[in-house]
Amino acid sequence: MPGPTADLFADDALQQPAGREQIGEESYVLRGFALPWIDRMLPELRQVLAQSPFRQMVTPGGFTMSAALSSCGELGWTTDASGYRYSPTDPHSQQPWPAMPNDLRRLAILAAADAGFIDFEPDACLINRYVPGAKMSLHQDKNERRYSAPVVSVSLGLPAIFLFGGHTRSDRPKKVSLFHGDVVVWGGVDRLRFHGVLPIQAGQHPIMGPQRINLTFRTAG
Ligand code: SIN
Ligand code: FE2
Repeated sequence: MPGPTADLFADDALQQPAGREQIGEESYVLRGFALPWIDRMLPELRQVLAQSPFRQMVTPGGFTMSAALSSCGELGWTTDASGYRYSPTDPHSQQPWPAMPNDLRRLAILAAADAGFIDFEPDACLINRYVPGAKMSLHQDKNERRYSAPVVSVSLGLPAIFLFGGHTRSDRPKKVSLFHGDVVVWGGVDRLRFHGVLPIQAGQHPIMGPQRINLTFRTAG
């Protein structure tokens, strides 16, 4: 019998759902997991980016990626004409990448544990910046030395539609909306699933402004 309570739940259903959503056998979206960390994370992130600013990289095929990239941690993911790889130094400065800030590392470890991956030891954090229109084509994260550790992905700023595909490029991907503070963790049997991001829609995020920033933590070395 629909009444005021039913209406209340109907309204709730329209809002961002809280908690943990399973999107694969060993993959989860942890809704709002990063929100309590944002105030501590943002100054740390700003320091990292002052040292290693965002830059647009070129794929081995000669395409300039629409997302701008930076990294922190012992290893940073880079691409240029000679290929994709992890490097201990920022190719722009020839200096080591900025250290991975403690709060970022702890957030990634706790998110991994929440999704069932204990003892995550991230040594690489790739930082992607998407302005409206920027996207990430379907790809696998496979430049890491081993695939036993999961990938932990933190979304900040403008929403995105995350594509979570299968093990071949042609598998039809699931579309998962990601919002500020959401964390996606995929590992185990899902570790090599294709994934990507549809072009970001124009907008203004109250904290992050007209952009989306995504952090992906991996164990690369
Ligand atoms: C990535 O796969 O590198 C980024 C995914 C995202 O931006 O959500
Ligand atoms: Fe990726």
